[in-house]
Amino acid sequence: MGILMANKTQKFLSSIKAHQESKSDEKFRGMLSDYLKLLEEDQSIASLAHKRLYRSINIHGITKLKESDSRCQQIFNGEELKTYNYFQSHFFGMEQSIKKIMRFLHSASLKGEESRQVLLLLGPVGAGKSALVEHMKRALESAPDIYHIEKCPIREEPLHLIPRSLRKEFKETYGLAIEGDLCPVCRHRLLEEYDGDYMSVPVVKSSFSIRGRRGIGVVPPMDPNTQDTSILIGSEDISKLDLYPEDDPRALSLNGAFNVGNRGIVEFVEVFKNEIEFLHTMITATQEKSVPSPGKQAMIYFDGVILSHCNEAEWNKFKSEHTNEAILDRIVRINVPYCLEYTQEEKIYNKLLSISDFDCHIAPHTLEVASMFAVLSRLKPTNKVDSLTKMKIYNGEEIIEKGLIKKVDINDLREEVRDEGMTGVSTRFIMKAIDNALADSDKNIITPISMRDSLIKQVKEQITNEEERKRLLLFLQKTLHEEYLKILEKEITKAFVSAYEEQAESLFNNYLDHAEAYVNATKVKDRITNEEMDPDNSFLVSIEEQIGIKGTARDNFRADITSYMFAKLRRGDVIDWKAYGPLKEAIENKLVASVKEISRIVTKSKSRDNKQQRKYGEMVATLVEDYGYNEDSAEEVIKFAANNLWRDS
Ligand SMILES: Nc1ncnc2c1ncn2[C@@H]1O[C@H](COP(=O)(O)OP(=O)(O)O)[C@@H](O)[C@H]1O
Ligand SMILES: [Mg+2]
Repeated sequence: MGILMANKTQKFLSSIKAHQESKSDEKFRGMLSDYLKLLEEDQSIASLAHKRLYRSINIHGITKLKESDSRCQQIFNGEELKTYNYFQSHFFGMEQSIKKIMRFLHSASLKGEESRQVLLLLGPVGAGKSALVEHMKRALESAPDIYHIEKCPIREEPLHLIPRSLRKEFKETYGLAIEGDLCPVCRHRLLEEYDGDYMSVPVVKSSFSIRGRRGIGVVPPMDPNTQDTSILIGSEDISKLDLYPEDDPRALSLNGAFNVGNRGIVEFVEVFKNEIEFLHTMITATQEKSVPSPGKQAMIYFDGVILSHCNEAEWNKFKSEHTNEAILDRIVRINVPYCLEYTQEEKIYNKLLSISDFDCHIAPHTLEVASMFAVLSRLKPTNKVDSLTKMKIYNGEEIIEKGLIKKVDINDLREEVRDEGMTGVSTRFIMKAIDNALADSDKNIITPISMRDSLIKQVKEQITNEEERKRLLLFLQKTLHEEYLKILEKEITKAFVSAYEEQAESLFNNYLDHAEAYVNATKVKDRITNEEMDPDNSFLVSIEEQIGIKGTARDNFRADITSYMFAKLRRGDVIDWKAYGPLKEAIENKLVASVKEISRIVTKSKSRDNKQQRKYGEMVATLVEDYGYNEDSAEEVIKFAANNLWRDS
């Protein structure tokens, strides 16, 4: 134990050493001439803020969702969607919003109009706006250090030292335009300390830091009574006013958000909670690329990305006021709706759980059911399909109805409604329900059943709008109750049927053999004995009836399947029992039906005999070993199935 600990410490100490060495390596102190030499090698060191931020995200790489990716096919219209690796493992189902943010940054980095606009993320609470901005700020923290004039309170670009009269030549030489002039503090120092010799002003390098307030400034929403622009632009330091003559820049404390965030990011949290007067500085900063100085100094050049966020209620209130039009014109709004793909939503919960201290058993399908509920609550109703179907279509799933793949275009559904995903329950609502479900459990487990109970309780407690409450309860008590039972029935069947996959595969092969023979009016050759026989119509029917195919529809179904599968084979595709949605469903239902009776008996605890008890034990063991349950959760869902699926009739 002692040796082990010592080893750990030793290992960690060497990491510390490496870290310190890498830091000291990066230290730099030089003059403008040194900076110019560096600039000649790498112009990116003088990038403006938007470009720097864009690059610091882009550098992590881009992954294109391939056409072959099913999400791409079903959800993004086969459009080859760019996803940014920097966001991929942290944000889910948000590709469209992220794409828009990156498009904004890209245009802004080319100094387009966007570089003079405020980016506003608009979305409901808990949609991930703050988290997105936080993540973008962190991208700067891992970006290369910036070079700046030593002791400059706003860490300004060393090129500002170059006098106006030389800038034309500078541009011709380096192909780079210099924007902005020295801040009052640097100008003062240049004159007083360096006697106007700008070549001897030291240039240093430092990093971005959220906590160190370097390059990242945050403006929290302010109480109107205490609102003070010093939070934005700094102030005059009263204690120093005695020391220096009036208007001496040395009395300035340039520690406002715009000073701090120069060359990086200024974030406005819940931006429209602030008074309008307060926002003028923000607009000036983008439009004029300068901010007022405290005291009577000239305006100070500002280069930074202004990121703001708010929810819809605040936005609507703000928008409705006529006097705000000028500001509206300077805002690029990007909607950040809730996630509408439930499998992606589930990933959010997994992420949030993985970073908490949460430690308990979560039964299979628990988070799935919760995420289905979240998405259902966010969808607007349509006449084309029921809510559950819409939810599945938005998730990229095939919808099977009466033996056919239902053709509903996801785009038609999307176009029917505007601003979907801006209402409904938030991720926080769900996370709280998860917490409560756990608190109520004496076995330290959460199952879809306790999850649903907890959600029902929370809806009753928190949703005050009568109509909304009814709508949500219906989803929980009916829609998802039934949907979960279907999921559960399949799972229990899988646990019951030994070698489920093989059995399904063999049903599939038999079905194809017989259907093909039936369609072509030929014989079926037994795979083992080579004996020829007529196609077994009653077998075919027993599969087809599982998905409600009757009468003349049978012939069509058999013909369709046969040609579908042979077309696939001709293309060289591998076919298996899951190849065609409707047939897959029929096979699953057939297997479910085949164990219905035994399931019913075995899951009833009262009437089990020894043999059945053994079978029950085997089933629990399979659920635990192969399907991710523990014994408690397996027993709980089996009991639930017994009470709801196979009632004694
Ligand atoms: N689509 C998403 N992907 C990943 N995490 C998300 C997503 N939506 C919300 N979250 C998480 O939910 C939590 C609440 O989000 P937050 O950023 O505070 O929302 P907002 O600022 O929009 O109210 C955060 O921890 C965030 O990481
Ligand atoms: Mg927020």
